[in-house]
Amino acid sequence: MSFTIAIDGPAAAGKGTISKAVAAHFGVGHLDTGLLYRAVGKRMLDGVEPIEAALALVAEDLEAEGLRTADVAQAASKVAAIPEVRSALVDFQRAYARRAGGAVLDGRDIGTVICPEAEAKLFVTASAEVRARRRYAELYAGGAETDYETVLADTKERDHRDATRSDAPLRPAEDAVILDTSTLDIDAAVAQAIAVVAAKRKDGDTA
Ligand code: CDP
Ligand code: CDP
Repeated sequence: MSFTIAIDGPAAAGKGTISKAVAAHFGVGHLDTGLLYRAVGKRMLDGVEPIEAALALVAEDLEAEGLRTADVAQAASKVAAIPEVRSALVDFQRAYARRAGGAVLDGRDIGTVICPEAEAKLFVTASAEVRARRRYAELYAGGAETDYETVLADTKERDHRDATRSDAPLRPAEDAVILDTSTLDIDAAVAQAIAVVAAKRKDGDTA
């Protein structure tokens, strides 16, 4: 049986952390689709043409170091606005989504474009200020030299680009459950996400 869990939302909303916990709880695989765009963005910074980079992407590229930097995040959101880059990455994501046993995919367009038929959809969000604080804390802990104001500006710029592009813009699917984590700690956010998915799995059993 396959069971797809789509988790979308803006930068640093908590998608990755929640997705990992949900995947572990239900014993299914997890694909962080942001890494696909980050890998293409990093190649672009290295001088490779983005569509070529997307067509040549292999799973090992996602293990590469250095995908979690602020520069790569910005490059990712630029290449993510190119329709040919997006279409080159569709089959890989859909195949992952339908793997036996089930899968969690997190990104921007999983519930709207990649897996509109996903059995469970969550849209994880939080205010830009809260998200920028979280991302700043992560970057600071990782030794990056930056400040909160820069991270906030970067976050807003990326949100704007992601939400206004013509192809697969960031927006909640109509049937997504919205999870605003602005005032939730990560444990509470994970518990709510698990409850949403558990209810959908139960529906499936009785359908
Ligand atoms: O994947 P995404 O960019 O949406 O976010 P993430 O990497 O899961 O979370 C960004 C940071 O915010 C991590 O350090 C999380 O632990 C933290 N976080 C939090 O403190 N409280 C939440 N409710 C959600 C995330
Ligand atoms: O972790 P964070 O939320 O900061 O970013 P990410 O999920 O790694 O995504 C990096 C960039 O890739 C985003 O700003 C989007 O432009 C793009 N992306 C996308 O367009 N579609 C996806 N399914 C995932 C990421």
